[in-house]
This record gives sequence, C-alpha cells and structure tokens, in this order.
Amino acid sequence: MCGIVGYSGRAAAAPVIYGGLKRLEYRGYDSAGIATLDGGNISVAKKQGKVSSLESCAENLSGETGIGHTRWATHGKPSDTNAHPHAIGKFAVVHNGIIENYAELKARYFPDTDFLSRTDSEIIVRLLDKFYSGNLLHALKEVSSLLKGSYAVLVICADFKGFAVMKYKSPVIVGGGRGESFAASDAPALAGLCKKISILEDGDFALASASGVKIYDNNLNPAARQKIINRATAASLDLNGCAHYMQKEILESPSAAENTVKAFSRVQGKLKEVFADVARVIITGCGTAYNSGLVAKRYIESFARMPAEAEIAGEFRYKNPVITTGTAVIAISQSGETADTVEAAKLAKSLGAKVIAVTNAPYSALTLVSDVVVPVAAGHEICVAATKSYTGQIAALYLTAKLLASLNKKPAAQTMKNAKAEICAIVPLLTDTVAHTDMDALAQVCARADGVYFLGRDIDYAVALEGSLKLKEITYIQSEGYPAGELKHGTLALIDENKTAVVIITDENLAIKCENAVEQVLSRKGKVAVITNVTGCARRLKGKVPVIEIPPSPKELSPLLSAAAVQLLAYKTALILERNPDQPRNLAKSVTVE
Ligand code: G6P
Repeated sequence: MCGIVGYSGRAAAAPVIYGGLKRLEYRGYDSAGIATLDGGNISVAKKQGKVSSLESCAENLSGETGIGHTRWATHGKPSDTNAHPHAIGKFAVVHNGIIENYAELKARYFPDTDFLSRTDSEIIVRLLDKFYSGNLLHALKEVSSLLKGSYAVLVICADFKGFAVMKYKSPVIVGGGRGESFAASDAPALAGLCKKISILEDGDFALASASGVKIYDNNLNPAARQKIINRATAASLDLNGCAHYMQKEILESPSAAENTVKAFSRVQGKLKEVFADVARVIITGCGTAYNSGLVAKRYIESFARMPAEAEIAGEFRYKNPVITTGTAVIAISQSGETADTVEAAKLAKSLGAKVIAVTNAPYSALTLVSDVVVPVAAGHEICVAATKSYTGQIAALYLTAKLLASLNKKPAAQTMKNAKAEICAIVPLLTDTVAHTDMDALAQVCARADGVYFLGRDIDYAVALEGSLKLKEITYIQSEGYPAGELKHGTLALIDENKTAVVIITDENLAIKCENAVEQVLSRKGKVAVITNVTGCARRLKGKVPVIEIPPSPKELSPLLSAAAVQLLAYKTALILERNPDQPRNLAKSVTVE
C-alpha cells in the first residue's frame, strides 16, 4: 500500500520519479504526486487518480532532486488535497504507513492550526518544519521519536541538495549509481536504474544525494546495510504481449512451480533442523496466502499426520494463541510485507514457536523474523490479485509438508526427489491448462449473475475459497466460497435463477457427494458449472450442466490446476465487465498497515 520513490542526481528528477511510480502503482492508485527541489525551491504537482494523471504536470517540475508517491488512502478520501507530497515551509514529504497518534500530536503541537489535508501524514511535515533548526538529521530523529505507527518517509528540505529517508515498519530500499541516489518502496521502481540495493532497517535514516546514500542507525551513527542485487529488470516487468499482468502472470504459473521446486533444495537442510522437534503446526497469512495455508493444513495433516491449524494472520495476532513446546508457525506472504502476517510471525516467535516464512520476497520484513525462509520463486507479481504466487506457494508447501512427513517417518514419507518429481510432472499439465482452458462461456454466465458460489469439499473447498476471492476482488460480483456439504445448511436459501454455483470436484471418492450439491442448486433454478478432473463425474454431468475438464492429477496436487482454472474464470469475467483486473478498486497489493 502506497508506493514512494526518491531520486537525486544529475538528470531531471520528475521523469525518473514518474517512471518509478508507474512501476509501483500496484501498491495503490487513488492519487499521486511529485515534489522536486530546484536551487532551494520546492515545487509540487499532485492529483487524484492514477499516476498517469500526473504526466502533463510533472513535465513542468524542474530540479534534479525529487520525491514521489502513489497512494492507497487510509486517512482522508482520495482527493488532490489529500494526495502526497505534503509541503510546508522548507519541507515536502511523502509517506507510506500510518501515523496512529497523529490526532494526539496535532492537539499537542498545533492546537490552533488548520491542516491542509485530512491525512495522518501531514503531521510529519508540520513537525519537521517545527523542529528543524538547521540540522536535517537531528530534526528527523526528533520527529521520529514522536511518531507511533509505521512509516517509510522521504523528505526534501530546501537547505539540502538531496533527499532524506526515515523508516519504521514500512519497507524502503535505497541504492546509488554513478552520481545519483534512489529510494523506493520496492525493487520494481528501480528496475533498470539501480543494480544493487540495500534494505533499510527499522529506525534507520538516510541522506541521499548525487554523491551517494549515507545510512544512519537510530542513534545517528553511520550504518552499513547488506547490498543485494535488484532482480527487477525492465524485461521482467514487460507485459510480453499480454493484455494485462494478470494474464501474463497466470501464464507464468508453470515456471513459478518449477522454479520453486528448484529453489527448495537450497533450504532443505535448514528446514530439517527447524522441524527437528516440531509436533504441531499453525499456518498463517492473509488473503490468497491464507487460502494456500488451508491447502497446506491438509498436506501436513495427511502426509505428516500432525495436527495443523490455519489462522488468518489478523486474527492470530490479536488472540492469545496457544504455542506449546514443539509448535512451528508457517507464515505465508507473497510480499513478505503484510503487516498482519509479519506481526503474527513476531508474536509466534516471541512465544517460543519456530517460524518458517514462505515468501516470494527473499529480503523482507517477514524473512527477518523467521528461522528459515522457504522460497517461492514466482518472480515479481504486479497484478494486485495473486495468481502465480499462489501456485508457487502450493509447490513450496507441498514440499515442506513432504519433508515434515519424511522426518516423522509417516507412510506418506518419500524421498524429496520423488516429491519434486511429482510437482514437475504437473508442470506440463499446468502449461496446458493455463493456455487452453476455455472459460469464455462460463465467464459470460458469471458476468450476468447476481452472486457466484464456489463449492468444493476438502482440498477443493480450499480452492473454492480462492476462486471466490479472485472473482470478487477483480469483478466486484458478490461471491462466497463454501463447503459443498454445507450448502444445504444456509447458503441454499440464497439460490435462485440469478445465482451461479461453480463446483470444483477433483476427488473421485467425493464426486457423488458433490454432485448432490449440483442437483440441489439446479432444483432451486440456480445455474451450475463444474470444474473437474474426475472422468466419471464429467460423464455423468455433461449435457446437464457446463463441465470444464482439467487434467487428471494426484488429488493433493489438483489445486495447482483447479486454481489456474478459477483464476482464468475471474480474469475472463473481469474482461466481460470491463473491469481492470490488474488494479481493482479499493485494493492494493501489499497491505503494510492494519
Ligand atoms: C492484499 C492483496 C491480496 C493478497 C494479500 C496478502 O490483500 O490484495 O491479493 O493475497 O494482500 O498479501 P501477501 O503479500 O501477504 O501474500
């Protein structure tokens, strides 16, 4: 949520920042702005709407230093005034995060001042203006000591030929090149600009200028932070001829699975150590990551025969979780930044659990609190709705559960080589599924429906939840994922001729039971379609309801294929309804606030 970019060097700053913001737009897109510094003068351009709304006004901003922001509103509705940067006196700031005590600070320090915006962020620039007495770092330190919440802040000050950074709990990276310095929320912003980046730690400050980036710790002592390669390149962010990132990323699902299998070998040894005394597993995450956790619960229970629970991270962190000796917590997050997931992992760790991160972001807040990081090697995911990262998570969690089973010598134990081969055998089937599954007719039905219910049993229920999440987030059609057996205990009351049920059936033993749900919906005049790999089921239902066949696979690996089918369904439905699948309303990809 919210993307920030800073530049100081020899080139005109505004175009560099504009380009960076475009590449960060997945973090929020309700308003955007840029401030530049030219010979001690600060100029600001900001507008409600997407980053592109800035294109013309950004051209008029002169100066070789600047900061920019693309917003996902938390405090204050999307508007020109609430857009960042906020500028007062000698300062302009952009902020990602939430200042939780902004009202208290306003009452204490500015009781009689009318603030220009309704944001929590304006307090930062007001405080800098108040406490600055010629030393920028000291002013930053003083202001940061007053703030509660989370922040990644970029600051330009009329007296400093460059920009400053302060960071607490919201991500920010910095990097330097030949005569220039950069800062951003995430690596894609600096694709093609900066090959090596450093990730700032909580409490850090930095001063960035044409002569490089100087990092300071919380006591203002110079600090060195590890430099890593920026893997985001212009080519990796290209649409490759696809209409949307969602389409491109669904097509990349097979390589996400394959690369995740390869990457698993790197952590197998460490994971074994962490799992040594584990007797119980809690899996946590948000959104799609939680849904993949529901699949993982089934893997751990059935392969390792070990108790496993899945908990939504925002719930887990505010209950009093029972962490007994031998508890491991698997925290799943594509971005590694989601505040609820990171805080859940921290809580688990503080209570003595082993923490295993499953993430697509190898250097993230989540990895810092984890005992071991199981990589999801899906590559950068730009579409707000997760697709290939879900596939990568399923592959990583399958191997993790198999490893746990092998340590516990359970019947499902097998060599890791076999487990990896099983996933690799699915990859060509997945390639075929994403390339050739015809969802057009069903998407037309869903696009006309008042509500769509995704139904399944056991592992198919976990995928039903993900299908429902995908559809609702990018089409805005009311949707629910439901256990097929529960339909008759409530949801059936909602079924009429304007509702559609999509039933996922990948377990031969449960097929007949699920077909009962099909009949129950049809009897109430609802529309039904079935996604299945069970031959008998397809044969029985064809002619009665639309049947989308996906390739046969071992039951446990069917989510790789059935999830691709529901992702495609959501994508096609969004296109019919003329929704932008990459940037759904009200949402952002990485939610770094509560
Ligand atoms: C947001 C996104 C979802 C995503 C969730 C968790 O809500 O809109 O698509 O699944 O965050 O993100 P994470 O990066 O932790 O997997």
